[in-house]
Amino acid sequence: MSEAKEKKIFAANWKLHKNPDQTREFFKNFLPEAQGLDCEIYFFPPAVSLEAAAGSLKNSKVKFGSQNCYRESQGAFTGEISAQMVKDLGGQLILLGHSERRKIFGEQDVLIAEKLAHVQSLGLTPVFCIGETLEEREAQQVQSVLEKQIHVGLSKADAKKPLVVAYEPVWAIGTGKVATPAQVKETHALVHEVLLAIGFATAPILYGGSVKPDNSKELLQIPHVDGFLVGGASLEPASFLGIARS
Ligand code: 13P
Repeated sequence: MSEAKEKKIFAANWKLHKNPDQTREFFKNFLPEAQGLDCEIYFFPPAVSLEAAAGSLKNSKVKFGSQNCYRESQGAFTGEISAQMVKDLGGQLILLGHSERRKIFGEQDVLIAEKLAHVQSLGLTPVFCIGETLEEREAQQVQSVLEKQIHVGLSKADAKKPLVVAYEPVWAIGTGKVATPAQVKETHALVHEVLLAIGFATAPILYGGSVKPDNSKELLQIPHVDGFLVGGASLEPASFLGIARS
């Protein structure tokens, strides 16, 4: 088992929330309380607040990174985020393929695969998001959708380099509709099988979608749930700490 899998991972995706001042204020309250936690903690602030996060997290074990990046380190790519520049700030992670990137910004599996290989080549850890929509679940397409996202998304990846996978059913994101423990159990087992078959069995698998302090304990008991990727409930220190304490 990889070192990463021995410890549960609690990852905060702040999406488009918190400016630099709000970021510093969050960590001022969060860090003293997080001292004794025996887990991995990741933060994904908006790009504009990465430098504030870097400053706040300088002497802590808490890791951070961006919510996206481009497949190149620099160049004529207006509006893009460079993983190399995130690394230069002390970031160690990049979130990739989030369903909001796929749906709102039209990101395709092939581009995500290129970004993922680029992030690994820089020695950073990609947190690779996958998940089906409600229509796909109702049409019994969960397996085929996740298989395609994984097979194409990891087609250029290096199994020997760090990788974290996050399964987030799109219908459970920001809706308050958390997947049932039975659905999480079945789907995480499926994701594990697909990863195992292509040599990525050591990658921790996070669950995401309306995770809250009152459902996190039960979900964390499920096999192949190695932690969470949390949106809304990661915006307040108290609720994210409540989840990390589960
Ligand atoms: P919520 O926790 O707000 O449902 O968001 C989940 C998510 O998209 C994390 O990446």
